[in-house]
Amino acid sequence: MKQFINDLLQINDYQAVRLLSILREIQAEFRFISKETIEILAEELNIERTQIISVVEFYSFLHLQPRGQYDILLSDSITDHMQGKPLLMDYLSEQLNVVIGATRKDGLVSLDNTACTGMCDQGPAALINGLAIPRLDKKRIDQIVDLIKQQTPVCDWPEHFFKVADNILKPGLLLNTQIQQGEALKSTFTRGLKPTLEEIDLSGLRGRGGAGFSTAMKWKFCSEENESVRYVICNADEGEPGTFKDRVLLNSYAHQVFEGMTVCAAIIGSKQGFLYLRGEYLHLYHPLQQVLRELRKIGLLGKNSVQQGFEFDIEIRLGAGAYICGEESALIESLEGKPGIPRNRPPYPVTQGYLNKPTVVNNVETFLAAAKIAVIGGQQFADLGTKKSKGNKILSISGDCEKPGIYEYPFGTPVSQILTDCGAEDVLGVQVGGPSGSFISTQEFDRTLSFEDLSTGGSFIIFNKSRDILDLVKNFTHFFADESCGFCTPCRVGTSLLKKQLDKILDGYGSAGDVVALEEICQLLKKYSHCGLGQTAANPILTTLERFPEVYQSRLKEISYEPGFDLDASLETARRLANRDDDAAHLSQVEEGS
Ligand SMILES: Cc1cc2nc3c(=O)[nH]c(=O)nc-3n(C[C@H](O)[C@H](O)[C@H](O)COP(=O)(O)O)c2cc1C
Ligand code: SF4
Repeated sequence: MKQFINDLLQINDYQAVRLLSILREIQAEFRFISKETIEILAEELNIERTQIISVVEFYSFLHLQPRGQYDILLSDSITDHMQGKPLLMDYLSEQLNVVIGATRKDGLVSLDNTACTGMCDQGPAALINGLAIPRLDKKRIDQIVDLIKQQTPVCDWPEHFFKVADNILKPGLLLNTQIQQGEALKSTFTRGLKPTLEEIDLSGLRGRGGAGFSTAMKWKFCSEENESVRYVICNADEGEPGTFKDRVLLNSYAHQVFEGMTVCAAIIGSKQGFLYLRGEYLHLYHPLQQVLRELRKIGLLGKNSVQQGFEFDIEIRLGAGAYICGEESALIESLEGKPGIPRNRPPYPVTQGYLNKPTVVNNVETFLAAAKIAVIGGQQFADLGTKKSKGNKILSISGDCEKPGIYEYPFGTPVSQILTDCGAEDVLGVQVGGPSGSFISTQEFDRTLSFEDLSTGGSFIIFNKSRDILDLVKNFTHFFADESCGFCTPCRVGTSLLKKQLDKILDGYGSAGDVVALEEICQLLKKYSHCGLGQTAANPILTTLERFPEVYQSRLKEISYEPGFDLDASLETARRLANRDDDAAHLSQVEEGS
């Protein structure tokens, strides 16, 4: 073991910032992070043991106790549920004689749930020793069980088990044709750096990761910082349930994404970039390393052959199962080898990011679009979309429709058009923007995809009338409670209170007063949470309570119906209560009482 760790440390230059990568390798090799390992790492990396333990405890793919030789995680996204995951999970547990959430006594197998693995168009999906297996069914489970019983190493399992399809069903300006390798860089240096930034500005490109900040402004602010070292980070954490477009872009358009990062580096003056790849996309890691090697070979990375004197390289760092690490400041903490706890903002990453140096963090799709704009100029992009939302958006469509997959639309496209294209029928509603977005009902299908109206990082999940909307709300509310990083009280306590309160109502034990209390917790979470996760964690409840109050009412226990009870009036009271000045104190009381 010592030899393995020493070699690993050498490969990682004994850099404490690479702690997460080091721990991932040790976990994969020994199935846990032992006390002895922690001692060695603390000594060699010159960091506290407690710091290492806090990192192991933070990330769901790292463990202080041994996992099974076959570590199986089933994706627990609502789309996996809709595709039959719960029954398959029970069947797998029975066949392998392992309790869900535990490791079998003989150490052969562990079985657990994990948050959405980004395979919503081809679920139910699993991760086996970190590798994705989509399209599970009973037959595939039987085959997996046999392979495990025979103790066949995962690397010898049939290759087609691991085949992940792209499912690009409606390409447009961005997906129709890829740029030639080096084309964006050549255009950038021929046109000039400042004029290229002006083209990005003219294009109106706004960040595709959700918040929609102007890309040109972000790059400009970063370039203006009075520092000699700057970084470029591509956010490929893609943890929002229902989103899988970045997976496809990295599988089939990687060189264009990397070139977008390189154009950004040239403009802001950076020598080092990072791709923060979510741990769930481990299957993409080696192919992406291969793309980087090719780009170095042809002089598009490293010492640049297009422009003498320009040097830039990209390193891939894997995440380890923490949704919060998609939040840019948490991502930076994670890249620095720490738990992914969001920083106070300001300062923003453009002024103090990775290692406190100016840093641009952009989504995968943003870099893809930027490379295209560097080639075609800003106007062609700006001609598409709406006044405030220029260009095309790539959607991940899943749920109840004939053709789930990747669709590209100009901003301003109505929901009804999208539903027709993907073959959705008898629709109850659509969750736009993942759990932190909104649930829209049939009356709203003329609403449009845009920052002005329905904003989304890419998630578009369709539900037909056979579904129970409260299953969706429960899944999302549990997701937030599991993924809260626990740093601030309103979110740590609020998400777990929401989960308890919602479960009570859904299990038929709730009274009208419980619904009022539920909305009160929602408002407190929204108002006092430190970061976007907590601030949006109540959205699944709030957006459905507003549109379908009767669904909640139908679950209340019989005796709770008081004559003349008016749920709307009670909710109004809750809203007033939620605006009280002493909210924070009230939450503390709730916490104490909980
Ligand atoms: C809880 C949370 C999770 C997030 N996850 C992602 C993610 O997976 N990918 C992403 O690009 N942005 C994500 N974001 C947004 C990032 O913080 C950041 O705004 C984005 O990476 C900036 O890139 P853009 O300007 O290209 O959109 C998340 C934000 C929050 C609050
Ligand atoms: S809001 Fe939630 S996820 Fe964000 S910092 Fe607070 S506890 Fe962590």
